[in-house]
Amino acid sequence: MVILITGTSSGFGKSIAEKLHSTGHIVIGTSRNADSVKSDFKTMKLDINNYEMSKNLISKIVETHGKIDILINNAGINITGPLESAKMSDIKNVFDTNFFSHLNMIQNILPHMRSNKSGLIINVTSIAGYLGLPFWGAYCASKASFKIIAESLNIELKNFNINVVNVAPGDYNTEILSNRVDSNNNPNSPYYKEYSRVIKSVNTKMEHGRDPEEVAELVLKIINQKNPKINYLVGGFLEKKITLKNLFPDKLFQKIIMKLYK
Ligand SMILES: NC(=O)c1ccc[n+]([C@@H]2O[C@H](COP(=O)([O-])OP(=O)(O)OC[C@H]3O[C@@H](n4cnc5c(N)ncnc54)[C@H](OP(=O)(O)O)[C@@H]3O)[C@@H](O)[C@H]2O)c1
Repeated sequence: MVILITGTSSGFGKSIAEKLHSTGHIVIGTSRNADSVKSDFKTMKLDINNYEMSKNLISKIVETHGKIDILINNAGINITGPLESAKMSDIKNVFDTNFFSHLNMIQNILPHMRSNKSGLIINVTSIAGYLGLPFWGAYCASKASFKIIAESLNIELKNFNINVVNVAPGDYNTEILSNRVDSNNNPNSPYYKEYSRVIKSVNTKMEHGRDPEEVAELVLKIINQKNPKINYLVGGFLEKKITLKNLFPDKLFQKIIMKLYK
């Protein structure tokens, strides 16, 4: 199959691309730094926030390979910061990268998938899209929005044999920490002490995060399924139980979550 993946210079994207390439698929991996990244799979330069570049890249791949069977919307960024003072430009940037640019990719690829009468789109969302973590509000909101569109799309696309799947990982050890933007991390902020404490705890969890290979294994399993589910969660035992949150009163659930960030 011909598979286009965004964000393959590191982390999940790289692991997924390597896994799918090694199992015989034609993989086209993309990132802003594609030129400087060595890989066994084919890579092309793409900034997903550049809509014209995205459209041209998709046309070029279809021209070369005749089709794109699978799109994996994986590229993403993380910002942290108290919502009161986080810079609006940073918040818009996280939505541009984690939501709007993926929707743009989907809009560009759907005409090709419809004319091919089949397609699979996998969106890498996050368990953070299932709950509002403190000082991660903008990131959580961007991932929650991204998760929801798969549900709408699956119904809109049911007559075209195109499936849209969310893969929501928990904490994994990738480059996301080093690429993270701290929006307005100001020592004079009234939030500074609590923010620093929570972020330190988050960092420790992520530094000891799981192996991204697990996510690549799950993606391989999904692409081999005839009738995939819409939502997949991948991570530790408790992370995968996040859907049980509705069984708890909201404030009790928040207390339980904050105990994990002690
Ligand atoms: N790590 C975790 O624990 C975790 C958990 C849940 C969800 N996620 C999600 O998983 C996805 C992959 O993240 P990761 O953890 O693997 O982090 P990562 O190692 O930092 O990888 C992020 C990838 O996205 C690419 N990227 C970022 N902005 C881009 C842009 N504007 N255009 C094109 N490519 C761009 C980066 O490439 P360049 O910088 O080279 O362009 C890089 O290849 C993200 O959507 C993230 O939100 C991560």
